[in-house]
Formats: sequence, C-alpha cells, structure tokens
Amino acid sequence: MSCALARACANVALAKYWGKRDDKLNLPYTGSLSVTLAGLTTTARVAPAARQAVDSVLMNGAAAPHQEAQRISTFLDLVRQRASRRMPLAVEIDTSFPVAAGIASSASTFAALAVATAAACDLALSPTELSIVARLGSGSAARSIHGGYVEWLPGEISDGSDSFATPIASADHWPLGVVVAITHEGKKDVGSREGMARAVKQSPFFSAWLASHEDDLDDIRRGILARDIEAVGLAAEHNCLKMHAVALAAKPPLFYWKPATLAVIERVRQLRDEGLSCYFTIDAGPQVKVICPIDQRDEVAAALGRVPGVHRTLLSEPGPDAELLEVK
Ligand code: PMV
Repeated sequence: MSCALARACANVALAKYWGKRDDKLNLPYTGSLSVTLAGLTTTARVAPAARQAVDSVLMNGAAAPHQEAQRISTFLDLVRQRASRRMPLAVEIDTSFPVAAGIASSASTFAALAVATAAACDLALSPTELSIVARLGSGSAARSIHGGYVEWLPGEISDGSDSFATPIASADHWPLGVVVAITHEGKKDVGSREGMARAVKQSPFFSAWLASHEDDLDDIRRGILARDIEAVGLAAEHNCLKMHAVALAAKPPLFYWKPATLAVIERVRQLRDEGLSCYFTIDAGPQVKVICPIDQRDEVAAALGRVPGVHRTLLSEPGPDAELLEVK
C-alpha cells in the first residue's frame, strides 16, 4: 500500500440532482449538469496505518465528528474491498471553503477521497471508474472527478455501472465567472440525503420535477456548448426554483433559504435590469451561486457583497479535473 494525496474541486449544478432511485448506491432519477469550481478545493491524504486498530479521520486538523468519520470509513471499505485490502487507513481532509452549508463540500471531499484511496490501495482506476466510486460516497462527487462542464448520466442498470459523470466541455471552452454569496456560515438543518428522501416520498411536485427535467438538461447542455449565458442562466434559474418548489411542498417542508438568500436573488434580478448578465442558482442550503461572463465577475461580486446579510463572496470559474498530487 502507499501514501497518496489528491485534490478535487467543488461543483455547482446548473441542472440539479434531486431524488435518488437507489439510496444505498446514490443512483439518481435524472441526469444533472454542473460546473467544476476552481479554487474551492478539498485535498485528501490517505495513508496505511498498520498500528491503528481502526481508521482515523482528521478534518481541517481536528478529529472528524463520529458520524462523518463513520461515513468516510464506510466509503474506505468499498475501495478496500475492491482492492482486497484490510489495513486501517489514516485520512486527512482539508477543505478551503465552508463545509456542509450548501456548497457541496461532500462533492470535493469524496472525489478527492476516491482518487487518493484508490492510489493508496494501488488500484489503477479510469476516470469513469473513479466517478462511480466517488458517487458511492456522495452523488454529486461523481461530477467533481472531471474539470470544466460535466454531465452525470443517471444510468438504468440497478448495480449503478452506467451511472457516472462525463465531461461535456473543458474549462477553457467557456471562461464563465462564478460568485458564491455566503449568507449563513454553519451547518444546514436538513442534509441533502434526508431532503431528497422527503422530496421523493412526500412532495406532490416530485412527479412534475421528473417530467420536466429533461428539457432543462437539454437547454443547459445546448447553452453551454453555444456559450450562451442567457440560455444557460434562465434554464438554471428555472431548474433551481423548481427544485426548491419540490422541497417546499414536502411534508414536513424543507426550507433551505435565509432572508439574505432572497435578498441576493432580488439583487441579481436588479443587476440584470441594469445590464449585467448574471443568473442565480441555489443548492440544499442558503448560499447563492451566481454565474456571469468572467469580465463581469468583479462587478457582480462587489454588488452582492453589499447586500445586507451577505457575509462574504467567493470567486470562482471552471476548474480542473480531480488530481493525484503525490504517491509514495
Ligand atoms: O451529493 P449530495 O448528496 O450532497 O447532493 C447534492 C444535491 C444538490 O447539491 C442540491 C444538487 C446537485 O446536483 O449538486
């Protein structure tokens, strides 16, 4: 076995993954499309730990909470089993942005972990195989294996072997600007796993979500290939608002927004009236991610930074593939 270090970026979905057809394998009902986010990264170091009885997990320098450590250990088991290894592992995870607040830190975490753990177990996996492995940790992690613009194909097979992400355009195909407006630091109330389960079983709008999702995917895919910010932005906003409508209509309801979330939406719409080409999307949390042409990014970030309730803004753009940085 080896000691391996890998890095992966977060991603933001423009057409969302919202609803699992298989809870254990993280198999989605629909496809989804995302942009991998440069600079919002997680690094994972995975090393054999023969002297330890069990795995150890450090997150940003501190022992991981029990539930997180368990989730990561279960993921390590999947890779170990595949490599016929049993050795406990020492894992160190460092994330450069607020964890579990709706910037999909689980995506960069499990993508980086998939790459590092496979290398630590001396498994040579293709990007498609890594995407499938990462998906088992967290669905959206399947997309963070690739850089640029990425589509996760939902697949049909019950073992998940055809449910993986694939790049549709490279990062330099279209240098999109991304601004993340942080409206709330700290953990969200209901995680995406519970949120999706409630949406599937308890929201009367879930069937409408399924019936209309393919059109959004087509519009967004076509818009990305044509570098058409208006087409992508309007379809992404529509898809995001539908996802939140499904969530709000669940029993009990899922409220992911804070008052400042709505204030940012309002400001984005005003900025459009003032001539900027910016569009919002929101995941299962209160932060707002805004896309715009890269040369408008600073102006958009400055305007959103002044919205009452916005703590700070993060700037990003399409980022690179998950990468193995070191093996020894
Ligand atoms: O990968 P998960 O289980 O954290 O789910 C992510 C769900 C959304 O962020 C809301 C949508 C998406 O496609 O990333």
